[in-house]
Amino acid sequence: MSSTNPLQGRTLAATADLSVDEQRYLYRKTRELKTAWASGGDLTHFRIRDPELNVYLMFLEDSTRTKESFRNAANFHDVKLNVFDASSSSFNKSESLVDTVKMLFGYGRRSIFVMRTKMEGVCRALEEQLGEYADRIGRERPVFINAGDGRHEHPTQEFLDEFTFLEKQGWDDSRIHVALIGDLHHGRTIHSKADGLKAFRSVTVDLVAPKELTLPASYKNRMEDNGFEIREWASIEEYLASGEISDCWYFTRLQLERMGDEVRERENELRQAVTFQQRWLDELPENTRFYHPLPRHREKPVIPSFLDGTSLNGWDGQSINGYFTRVIELAMVAGHMGGDFDGLGPVPEMKEKSFITEVPITRKSRVEDRFKVGIKPVDDGMVIDHIAKGCTPEEIWDRIFRIRRILQLNVRGSQGVFHTSHSLDFKGIISLPDILEISPTELKKLAAVSPGCTVNLIEERSVKAKYRLAMPPKIYNFTEISCKNRECVTWPGAFQNVPPHFYRTVGETFTCRYCGKRHEYGDIWDL
Ligand code: ASP
Ligand code: CP
Repeated sequence: MSSTNPLQGRTLAATADLSVDEQRYLYRKTRELKTAWASGGDLTHFRIRDPELNVYLMFLEDSTRTKESFRNAANFHDVKLNVFDASSSSFNKSESLVDTVKMLFGYGRRSIFVMRTKMEGVCRALEEQLGEYADRIGRERPVFINAGDGRHEHPTQEFLDEFTFLEKQGWDDSRIHVALIGDLHHGRTIHSKADGLKAFRSVTVDLVAPKELTLPASYKNRMEDNGFEIREWASIEEYLASGEISDCWYFTRLQLERMGDEVRERENELRQAVTFQQRWLDELPENTRFYHPLPRHREKPVIPSFLDGTSLNGWDGQSINGYFTRVIELAMVAGHMGGDFDGLGPVPEMKEKSFITEVPITRKSRVEDRFKVGIKPVDDGMVIDHIAKGCTPEEIWDRIFRIRRILQLNVRGSQGVFHTSHSLDFKGIISLPDILEISPTELKKLAAVSPGCTVNLIEERSVKAKYRLAMPPKIYNFTEISCKNRECVTWPGAFQNVPPHFYRTVGETFTCRYCGKRHEYGDIWDL
């Protein structure tokens, strides 16, 4: 697709799919729309008006606000609206998502899919799979908008939340101090805040939740990476006693449908910790507003209904903002708006370079000198050295066997665990007299399986080439890795045929490209 509009055709699978500048553009345009709408002004230039554009609402999980605001937004634009009926579709005959979407995609010239699923990472997976399919058949790539995927993210809710916070602050984005209260563990609208709050230049987040409902480490780490100040309390009562209270409270309901039995059994006690009580009204700072993505539990809401008619009620206006932000989001990804955007786009993915370094060979070192410790020196062949250096002998043996298995080194050779020459650390060595060369692809594979090792190619007892392998920026294309989140679209039991793919995050953590779960390096491996 050739376009000078950087927003056209963009999938919104996660909040970070829009850069901060792009999010600010969305908020600016939404403000223009809302102002024009409130004054009864002419809205024509906001409308897409393209009968060839199909907007599909595919809600495989229940929804009121997101579905209905997108339905109204699509109607506003005069485009072709299709509401997919999941309950009577061939999903019930075990059809995969990609097959279903591929077929719907065939019915229109241009398509936007708004998708809510229990499975996490679906929009990213479909963006790739349908994108390739569209390229193959010479069609415009479809757009996917994540309307909430399991416990992962809810980016369009995030955009309306940030718009609402900015509105409250009179469009001052210099600083926000927000309290996130309730089910921070399962609530996807909370998880999306890890990137969405970057719309503000300085961020303090107060996390208020009992232990069982605390924010998962993946999102807390992301908030830390983004430079947010984070403070934590186990209940509203403790929070109020702490002194420095925010005037912007964002509540979420207990996500009972996503909890295990053990947590659900303690529902009442947990709810108590995050439900506001009348006796605390006087303790709130001036101009405090309460927000909530909704729905509220009709019997036991965390924001009790006696507050509905008070000035604390920010949640009704917040949900109405969902309509305006979604009108603009559709206009942006359809390419109707964004031609005048002149900010920065999302940071490009880390380039796959410099994790394999060829070390210059300065002198013809004799192999006996280098690999003499308990391992037979090779005259010709390959020696993999410094395997899992610094780990325990048990971990090193595991790594040695993993290397042999995954790289299919079922050849002659020896191996062992030894002290390194200059310290008491341990390391592993594999010596392979039958292997005389190694391809760049195998080097990449080896770097992923055993970062930190060195590879020596030996000819006539001299090291001819030596490579140092660091931790790669991405790990994929292995049958031996998997995302450990059972709700992820890559989970083999989901039968969506999406191979796992991780990208490196801070330190040696690897984040699933689809569901966003962070893993320690060792945890991505199955064997
Ligand atoms: N409606 C929001 C969501 O779908 C919040 C919630 O259900 O509690 O994530
Ligand atoms: N806020 C929100 O996503 O509401 P629905 O679940 O009703 O769509």
